[in-house]
Amino acid sequence: MKSLVGRSFLTLKDFTPEEIMYLVDLAADLKDKKKKGIPMEYCKGKNVALIFEKTSTRTRCSFEVAAHDLGMGSTYLDPKASQIGKKESIEDTARVLGRMYEGIEYRGYGQEIVEELAKYAGVPVWNGLTNEYHPTQMIADLLTIKEKFGSFKGLKFVYMGDARYNMGNSLMVACSKMGIDFVACTSKKYFPEEELVNQCKEYAKATGSTITLSDDVATATKDADIIYTDVWVSMGEPDEVWAERIKELLPYQVNKKVMDNTSKKSVFMHCLPAYHDLKTQVGQEVYEKFGLSELEVTDEVFESEKSVVFDEAENRMHSIKAIMLATLGGYSL
Ligand code: CP
Ligand code: NVA
Repeated sequence: MKSLVGRSFLTLKDFTPEEIMYLVDLAADLKDKKKKGIPMEYCKGKNVALIFEKTSTRTRCSFEVAAHDLGMGSTYLDPKASQIGKKESIEDTARVLGRMYEGIEYRGYGQEIVEELAKYAGVPVWNGLTNEYHPTQMIADLLTIKEKFGSFKGLKFVYMGDARYNMGNSLMVACSKMGIDFVACTSKKYFPEEELVNQCKEYAKATGSTITLSDDVATATKDADIIYTDVWVSMGEPDEVWAERIKELLPYQVNKKVMDNTSKKSVFMHCLPAYHDLKTQVGQEVYEKFGLSELEVTDEVFESEKSVVFDEAENRMHSIKAIMLATLGGYSL
């Protein structure tokens, strides 16, 4: 396997199945070490910059805790506190931060921004979410799947909801690269772009898996091992799209009927945050306007035995630690 040291982590498209498996296994190893209280300051003396142009709970906390565990310092740049994009170009920012930090995380809008940052930084850049991809979430999700099922090959994975955005795109890439059968179950308008589907079909061919697009819930979710969903309106999208999304995606809500159609050992996954009750400001606003108290997933499914959403959330930290460590160097499996 080619060394991961010095490489950026922008989308799983850039990584082989073997490299992805290595990151999952490294994350599992670091999780085990953390549980046992084994010190892991493999990157002592290094520093990382964490740029967030969109808000975050899991990704930010994961990077900060993981950096600290690895013995590194970190600087958080919030959506308003830096000059990025407004007074200073991405290219100049990359060249400045690359002189001070050993690695840079970026969460923001277009994938081209994180690609540009990586081009000029001279140090590894990690994509903490763009409109198109969310690759650090993928290592956490694959680790969670491995913990629940032991392996990847032959599993049936069904993504419901907006399958043409960062989560749908990334999961289709991750599944096809790892030999998991991927199904996008949603209204045709929300199918992933044809070009990416064709690319993933090539990955799937190599791993003996399949890619299916279907708007029929009953057949698409039949005997599924994993049901996955995400919010219907993503960060950066205007509030005006809620009405349309609710109308078009409500038939693809993950509820008990969907889960009852899946395999006996199936699990429910969600990258979080999720709208499953009225305990959020947005949840309340949507309820007042549209009368719906649960959106992409019902509270019943979210709180059920099949739900592994908090394992996924925990695994964000272990997997982000693995990604930083593998690309910065200092320890390998
Ligand atoms: N899943 C995820 O990326 O969560 P945050 O937006 O809280 O970072
Ligand atoms: N699709 C969501 C994912 C959040 C982790 C968003 O971009 O807001």
